[in-house]
Amino acid sequence: MHVILRAAMQGMASDPAGEALWAALLAGDPAARRAAPLYGALLDAAEAAPGAFVLGRISQSLDGRIATASGHSFWISGEADVLHTHRLRALFDAVVVGAGTIRADNPLLTTRNCRGASPVRVVIDTERRLAAHYRVFAGGPATLLLCAADATGDAPGQAELLRLPRGAAGLDIAAMIAALHGRGLRRIYVEGGGITVSRFLADRCLDRLHVTIAPLLLGSGIPAFSLPGVACPQDGLRLDWTVHRLGEDILFDIPLERRK
Ligand SMILES: NC(=O)c1ccc[n+]([C@@H]2O[C@H](COP(=O)([O-])OP(=O)(O)OC[C@H]3O[C@@H](n4cnc5c(N)ncnc54)[C@H](OP(=O)(O)O)[C@@H]3O)[C@@H](O)[C@H]2O)c1
Repeated sequence: MHVILRAAMQGMASDPAGEALWAALLAGDPAARRAAPLYGALLDAAEAAPGAFVLGRISQSLDGRIATASGHSFWISGEADVLHTHRLRALFDAVVVGAGTIRADNPLLTTRNCRGASPVRVVIDTERRLAAHYRVFAGGPATLLLCAADATGDAPGQAELLRLPRGAAGLDIAAMIAALHGRGLRRIYVEGGGITVSRFLADRCLDRLHVTIAPLLLGSGIPAFSLPGVACPQDGLRLDWTVHRLGEDILFDIPLERRK
């Protein structure tokens, strides 16, 4: 059984046999978790978390860019990484993105490239500036628009508006996580962009981080991480990671300590 599942996992990106292992994972098969260590470790950690479980995610070029300077990010990483993104949507209750990603990509944020349910879509728009014409507001799975308690403006399209307190930069992220958890959204997946993931990271509000690095140099562009600088390397945030191959890309699976 294990050998079959491992073989299926290795061929997941292009081999339909990969779908058998994915279906087994969705069904909660423990053998599938052992055969697919990337997802097995994630699901084990999510289940062990006492409350909400928050994953941050970035796909970047070798020189640390998530998009070109003009905002184009399709495609930095390869097919296997895009499939991984859809699998994460299927495994989580909520997918969170910043207003910059909605403006640049006009994404649907649904699960389409693999079997599994679509998560609730959560858009952070502190000042309530996004127009209503974006696809995420036009029906489909539920969408929550998060803005500051004192921001003016209505809910765009079909979205529901949720007002939250401000934090040091933007919204108070701990309050955001508590509000989502209070609505039954326990597994929270922060899909981007760089500013949003960086704010969660700087606030120590992530339990885990998935960073994919593609063998691509962009020269300049939108940075993956924007964090307060440090004087010496030993003052930086040193991480532990497990490395996985995703087609031509490399994924770093990084456990973190979330501030509770
Ligand atoms: N390669 C990847 O993994 C990936 C993934 C997603 C997106 N992208 C690309 O990344 C680019 C967008 O990324 P970005 O870093 O510029 O922007 P972003 O993170 O998508 O959005 C940043 C904006 O979201 C709002 N925001 C985020 N976190 C907030 C918080 N805690 N509190 C309040 N507001 C918050 C703010 O909007 P306001 O300034 O309006 O208040 C902020 O300026 C696009 O080009 C997109 O194509 C790449």
